[in-house]
Amino acid sequence: MRPRPLIGSTTAVGAAVFGYATVVERNRFALRHLDVPVLPPGARPLRVLHISDAHLTPGRHRLLSWIRSLDALQPDLVVNTGDSIAHPEAVLPFLEALGPLLDRPGVFVYGSNDLYSPIPKNPARYLWETSAKRSRRGVPDLPWAELGAAMEAAGWLDANNRRGRLKAGDLDIDVAGVHDPHLKRDRYEEIAGPPDPAADLRLGVLHSPEPAVLDRFADDGYDLLLAGHTHGGQVCLPWFGALVTNCGIEPDRARGLHRHPADGPDDDGRPWLHVSAGLGTSPWAPFRLFCRPEASLLTLVPRTN
Ligand SMILES: [Fe+2]
Repeated sequence: MRPRPLIGSTTAVGAAVFGYATVVERNRFALRHLDVPVLPPGARPLRVLHISDAHLTPGRHRLLSWIRSLDALQPDLVVNTGDSIAHPEAVLPFLEALGPLLDRPGVFVYGSNDLYSPIPKNPARYLWETSAKRSRRGVPDLPWAELGAAMEAAGWLDANNRRGRLKAGDLDIDVAGVHDPHLKRDRYEEIAGPPDPAADLRLGVLHSPEPAVLDRFADDGYDLLLAGHTHGGQVCLPWFGALVTNCGIEPDRARGLHRHPADGPDDDGRPWLHVSAGLGTSPWAPFRLFCRPEASLLTLVPRTN
């Protein structure tokens, strides 16, 4: 029997799937709506727009235009959990796409890719190797400081190893964050300690959802933790989900809303954890499969217990 027709059809299917993942799904942006019961009884709902992992290069016009459309959601608060840029000239397009979102209350942390430009690699390595070692390359070569300065100048809170206070909607929010644990730049000791119990909400932010760091936030008593980095697995299997997370969190929590730690009784005060599957990909792994790029509109509502 001659195997050539089988090889030919397998190659054609592979090329079609790759084409779909690169050209179509990578640009099929989704807006996730989730309710999160973290507010005090009687509080008015708060709309939080969570964006992450844009990995922006200046030519990504569809992504830029979709980010530009998000202000129409009229969020009360914007949270950017990092990996915003992937090119030295991406800062200005990213800021222009945020546009009026920058006039709203906001908070940000950096991801490793805000500091280091992407390097060519075999895209399939994403499936079996963490990028942590490849990311630690000495002096950062991307304009992360320019990006951060612009967001801070607009009034957004820089939460990289910092604490702060925000007013959003009717709420007084105690916020703390760390720089990216994936780069080992997190310094939890600089923000350690219980957040203000008198605040309406205690919010923790970080790029890579490393369980050891999430444990610190949980132990200190934060209500809600927001992270990105995983890309939701980026290449998923239908009816199964993520295969990898590129960090310590397990694939079941690679995206979406869960508690942290994952197991325990419902009413034990564990924080909610939302992991964004992110808006983009590394330019050197430009595909997403069964894992659409996304932003999330979290509606914070009063607790039910
Ligand atoms: Fe990322």
